[in-house]
Amino acid sequence: MAEKMGELKRSMYCGELREENIGNEVVLMGWVAKERNLGSIIFVDLRDREGIAQIVFDDTVDKSLFEKATSLRSEYVIAIKGIVRERSSINKKIPTGHVEILANDLKILNESEVPPIYIKDDDNVSETMRLKNRPLDLRKPSMQKKLMMRSKFYKVTRDFFANEKFIEVETPMLTKPTPEGARDYLVPSRVNDGQFYALPQSPQLMKQLLMVSGLDRYMQITKCFRDEDLRANRQPEFTQIDLEMSFVDIDDVIDINERFLKYAFKEMVNVDIELPINRMKYQEAMDRYGVDKPDLRFDLELQDISNIVKECGFKVFESATEEGKSVRGINIKNGSAFYSRKAIGKLEDFVKDYGAKGLAWIKLADNEINSPIAKFLSEETMAEIIKEMNAEDGDLLVFVADKNKVVYDSLGNLRNKVAKDMELIDKDDYKLVWVTEFPLFEYDEEDDRFVAKHHPFTSPMDEDLDIVLTNPEAARAKAYDIVINGDEMGGGSIRINDSEVQKTMFKALGFTEEEAQNKFGFLLEAFKYGAPPHGGLAYGLDRLIMLFTGSDNIRDVIAFPKTQSATCLLTGAPTELTEEQLKEVHIQVRKEEK
Ligand code: AMO
Ligand code: AMP
Repeated sequence: MAEKMGELKRSMYCGELREENIGNEVVLMGWVAKERNLGSIIFVDLRDREGIAQIVFDDTVDKSLFEKATSLRSEYVIAIKGIVRERSSINKKIPTGHVEILANDLKILNESEVPPIYIKDDDNVSETMRLKNRPLDLRKPSMQKKLMMRSKFYKVTRDFFANEKFIEVETPMLTKPTPEGARDYLVPSRVNDGQFYALPQSPQLMKQLLMVSGLDRYMQITKCFRDEDLRANRQPEFTQIDLEMSFVDIDDVIDINERFLKYAFKEMVNVDIELPINRMKYQEAMDRYGVDKPDLRFDLELQDISNIVKECGFKVFESATEEGKSVRGINIKNGSAFYSRKAIGKLEDFVKDYGAKGLAWIKLADNEINSPIAKFLSEETMAEIIKEMNAEDGDLLVFVADKNKVVYDSLGNLRNKVAKDMELIDKDDYKLVWVTEFPLFEYDEEDDRFVAKHHPFTSPMDEDLDIVLTNPEAARAKAYDIVINGDEMGGGSIRINDSEVQKTMFKALGFTEEEAQNKFGFLLEAFKYGAPPHGGLAYGLDRLIMLFTGSDNIRDVIAFPKTQSATCLLTGAPTELTEEQLKEVHIQVRKEEK
């Protein structure tokens, strides 16, 4: 039976209790985290969002209250009144551990069935159970802390940008497809038979329009929707801190964002970020790390040995050094004892997932060379490779020969795996880097055409303007990503504000005038009437929170996340609709044969 709170008014949070409260009468409300009945005394750990307080019911002080307290069970909701006193056995592990409350009143505000999951941080329960029982899962102190950090970050972000004269503007959720390149989530229109809205993949076009409107500096914390393959740091519905500024070039956008990051790291995790943040050109990132989001917390850099093995006698290497391909390797320092032959086999399987055909290796151990390719190589070539790779006794060298994309992809990912395997990563380290000068285009092999690497409104670098059509592969963009600890935390660009350049861009992308009009006519129209130079950036807010809270799973920093297969285990979304609901939105479902 649920009792009323009556005249009891909460005086503070459980977790706020300190020694200076000794002697005071307090009223606390919360959930029973634990109860221990020692016969004549009952201890209750009372939990609210700020922490835990120990409550004492003493048989010798108040018999009937003690009787009532014997009925308390885990997760009952109670209100207690009592006097704060010093604890006889101090618990140094919690901030309230010096004191306890001798209860003189108890109201049982609600009972609870035995919960399906333990409400404690190290519960070892499957994620499925946690997501199904999310309201209880979110009762855990660690989860509450993450949501509170998230809430604090909204404020930190808004404070900073408001201070810099940014204006927060909401952009529509029911809109036209945006050019971010993933699949859209679509919403049928009831009043417009057969027509659909798209949920925004980002506010990209709207924020550019706001620059045409003269808002000058825009920011928004907003949801974005992308129907793409999910991973540990991707959700179909995620949050961006979205920014756009007028009358700026790359350095202006980078400058304000560096100051934001410095402020955010200080406020959120009390870490001092040194400015300026290093910049690395895209091509350098690829050559040294194989990826455009390098984790700079460890070495293991890629090295190009194509020149050495051009005529080395090993056919795989020789034929690979032909046009456009390369042979590159990583020196895994002290890796020869760490990786057995069998373990190297696993590394080979790993790179094959990224398209590599094999993983050649050279082990240097006990002053001997052990390698399946040794028989193909002359002693001089072997010595040259070892010298080029700065290899010493104890090292393991691994190589991939293929077209550059495969070499980068496989070794770049292998590099991250090896660092994890060998525990080379300092978890308390933050390494930030701007990756700049991205290619303007990316070749889409499936469609056999160039697509915009960032989006079609990203400006080419001034010096590459005249090669956009003639040598698109070499054209670089005024685009930049902020990469932290090997993860892309944000990205943006300076936009095209010259209609001639925009036309060239569409031409390079193979859009006809008509297609461009159909897709982005409203933007092109607005751009006719004085579009200022502008550019911006968007952060993945969820990813930043992962970083600040040390979470390795994006679902842990979102209150009600989706699973890897884009379902919500709590509500059961998505669901089928009734015939009536479908009819109302003019939809007939086609059942695909499985
Ligand atoms: P972009 O597509 O790079 O740029 O997105 C910006 C940042 O959003 C985060 N992000 C995601 N986070 C979680 N789940 C996802 N599915 C997901 N997809 C992206 C990443 C990424 O860096 N309009 C441009 C920005 C601009 O040019 O100003 C844009 O959306 O951290
Ligand atoms: P093979 O002669 O085909 O048995 O190959 C000898 C070694 O070269 C094996 O360790 C293979 O994994 C490796 N290898 C094969 N193809 C490649 C490649 N494209 N790049 C790097 N190593 C390779």
